[in-house]
Amino acid sequence: MQSFELLSQKFALHFEKSHFPAQPASLYEPNEYFLKMGGKRIRPVLCLMGNELVDEINPDAWHVATAIELFHNFTLIHDDIMDKAPIRRGFQTMHRKYGENTALLAGDVMLVTAYDYLNKIDSLYLHPILQLFNQTARLVCEGQQTDMDFEKSEVVSLDEYLHMIGQKTSVLLAASLKMGTILGGAGERNQNLMYEFGKKLGLAFQVQDDYLDAFGDPGKFGKKTGGDILANKKTFLLIHALEVVSASEREELLSLLQTNPADKVERVLKIFKSARVDNWALQLENRFLEEALAHLEDVAVISKRKEPLKELARFLTKREF
Ligand code: IPE
Ligand code: IPE
Ligand code: MG
Ligand code: MG
Ligand code: MG
Repeated sequence: MQSFELLSQKFALHFEKSHFPAQPASLYEPNEYFLKMGGKRIRPVLCLMGNELVDEINPDAWHVATAIELFHNFTLIHDDIMDKAPIRRGFQTMHRKYGENTALLAGDVMLVTAYDYLNKIDSLYLHPILQLFNQTARLVCEGQQTDMDFEKSEVVSLDEYLHMIGQKTSVLLAASLKMGTILGGAGERNQNLMYEFGKKLGLAFQVQDDYLDAFGDPGKFGKKTGGDILANKKTFLLIHALEVVSASEREELLSLLQTNPADKVERVLKIFKSARVDNWALQLENRFLEEALAHLEDVAVISKRKEPLKELARFLTKREF
C-alpha cells in the first residue's frame, strides 16, 4: 500500500512518455502540449488507490489509469471550447493556441487513444471496465450539456445543480475508484461503497472548483478567475447568493446575468462576499467530505488500507489549484 505522494510520482513517470504518433504534427503536437501542461492526475491515482485498497496493483490498472487520464484531458479540451476559457494549468488553452477546429479533433483522437489503452487489459476485466467507462462518459456528456443549458436559465435550484455536477464531475472520480477496486478483485459491496465515496468526494471537489473560480488566487489556480461569472454559470455560489441576499442585491444580480458590463465580475463578487458565500462553500464542502468518508468507513478492509484515500480527500478539499 503506497502513499498518495508516491503513487502520484509513479503515475507521473508512467504517463510521461508520448501517447501519440509524430505525424501529422499539426494534430498530435497540440495533444503533447496539453498533456505537458501538467494537472493533478488525481483520477488515475484514485484508480490505483482503489486497486490497492484491496490488493497489490494489477498491471492492468496502469492501462486503465492511463485511459482515465486521457479521457479526462479530452473532456477538458472540449470544455475549454464550450466555456471559452483562455487559460488552463497556467498555460494557453488548446483552442486559443491552435484554433477550435484542431482542438476538437485533437480532443477526439485523445478519446480514441484512451480506448487503445483499455483494449490492452485482460479479457476477464474488459467487459465490466468498458461498460463502466462508457456509462461514465455518457453521464459526463449529459452533465456538460446540462451545465450549458443552465447558462441560459435564470434560476436553478441547489438540487438541480448537485445533479448536474454529479454527472459532469463526480461520476468520473467515482468510476476511477470503482475500476480500481474491480481490478483489485473487490466484492460488489466494496465496489459500490467506493463508487459512493467517489461521488460525494466529487461533489466536494466541484464545490471547491467553483469556489476557486470566484475567489482563488489567479497565480495558483491556473485558470482565469471570474470565468464562471462571465459565462453566467449557475454555480452553487450564485444559487446560494440568490437565496440569501437582500431584494435589491437579488435584483442587481439577476440584471447582471442579463448583461455584460465591464465590471461584472467585481460587482458579482461584491454581492457574493456580502452574502458570505465563501463560508457557505466551506460548510457545504465539509458536509460532502464527511458523507464521503462515512462510505469509506463502511468498506470492509482494515482501516490502515484506507489512509491514502483519506489523505487524498483532504488534499482535494484544501487545494488552491
Ligand atoms: C478540472 O479537473 C475539471 C473539473 C472537474 C473541475 P482537475 O482540477 O482535476 O484538473 P487537472 O487535471 O488537475 O488540471
Ligand atoms: C468541467 O467543469 C467538468 C468537465 C470537464 C467534464 P468546469 O468547467 O468547472 O471545469 P474547469 O473549471 O474548466 O476545469
Ligand atoms: Mg465547464
Ligand atoms: Mg470549464
Ligand atoms: Mg470550474
